[in-house]
Amino acid sequence: PPNLQMVEEDLGLERVNCRAKGASSGFKVAILGAAGGIGQPLAMLMKMNPLVSLLHLYDVVNAHGVTADISHMDTSAVVRGFLGQQQLEDALIGMDLVIIPAGVPRKPGMTRDDLFNINAGIVKTLCEAIVKCCPKAIVNIISNPVNSTVPIAAEVFKKAGVFDPKRVLGVTMLDVVRANTFVAEIMGLDPREVDVPVVGGHAGVTILPLLSQVKPSCSFTQKEIDYLTDRIQNGGTEVVECHSIAMVLCSSIMFESAFGCILQAKAGAGSATLSMAYAAVKFADACLRALRGDAAVVHCAYVASEVTELPFFASKVRLGRNGVEEIYPLGPLNEYERAGLEKAKKELAGSIQKGVSFVKK
Ligand code: NAD
Ligand code: LMR
Repeated sequence: PPNLQMVEEDLGLERVNCRAKGASSGFKVAILGAAGGIGQPLAMLMKMNPLVSLLHLYDVVNAHGVTADISHMDTSAVVRGFLGQQQLEDALIGMDLVIIPAGVPRKPGMTRDDLFNINAGIVKTLCEAIVKCCPKAIVNIISNPVNSTVPIAAEVFKKAGVFDPKRVLGVTMLDVVRANTFVAEIMGLDPREVDVPVVGGHAGVTILPLLSQVKPSCSFTQKEIDYLTDRIQNGGTEVVECHSIAMVLCSSIMFESAFGCILQAKAGAGSATLSMAYAAVKFADACLRALRGDAAVVHCAYVASEVTELPFFASKVRLGRNGVEEIYPLGPLNEYERAGLEKAKKELAGSIQKGVSFVKK
């Protein structure tokens, strides 16, 4: 594809470039992994966000195609594409917020931790570039396993002497989005009115919904609590395994039908992308509103924390001009939640240690 930046310069479209360079009234946001299943809808939604003046889309494949597509949207953010490692630093210079959905997703039968071997190195490399180019940026980490990739990011920043625990946030918003939806479904409420705190981490039993603290106040039967807890903890697998069922159907058709491989290709393995892009934008928008100075911006996120004895934990945090301004305690837990917390902490401890050791070794 033509290099749009060069074409624009040839045509003398300097005003757009001035706007891109100046980008004074608004925030500069980079998405790393912008051509992926999450990256593309996330890029589209960020282009629609009036708080964003400059949007940098970086990937190791197809970054310019996605940029060309998104850049035709008649919203105010200026979009620029960056392809491959040699353009990574240009993508990051001057950014206020960096969102990272780069890395491989789960296939049916895998755990998030099975992604560690590939994604740990990707997140480490990206964070090393952030250290060099925009160490003061707020970093939103989506790449799995989040329970380990956030400690990896923190360790990279520590090694470089620029770790600010307020600025590195693991995105657990999808767990909250799912919890709000599932609770609303069984209580007959509008999901927009429901607020379920989800604490701990972002994998299986580490995802701990605090159903005793749901707003508006709800009373659940034990059967409802078991159902909701299981569904929220396994929401990601629900999406991954849906693909798996489709693939089984498609491969049986494949023996009988010439169209089988097309169907199989459509079923393709992967994990949540659209709901994740929605959740990532909800969280990124909250970070930007807080950077702007809005008060009372409170969401759950997986951050360096002293809420438990673990060095990282997801809980409600208040966001401000510097990132995480305040971390709220878990509040009163019932017996069921206390048991869940013990299980969550046991698994989280191992995932955190694995991330830390990966950078230290
Ligand atoms: P995907 O494979 O569709 O997209 C990933 C993108 O990352 C691809 O475009 C790929 O080219 C790019 N990429 C790979 N290596 C890169 C590198 N070194 N630098 C920059 N980009 C690179 O996957 P997806 O469905 O978008 O999922 C991405 C990640 O997000 C996965 O790890 C997945 O498990 C995770 N995820 C997290 C949550 C959450 O709640 N935190 C939810 C869903 C998915
Ligand atoms: C999710 O919760 O959907 C993501 O973490 C992706 C996954 O692998 O489940």
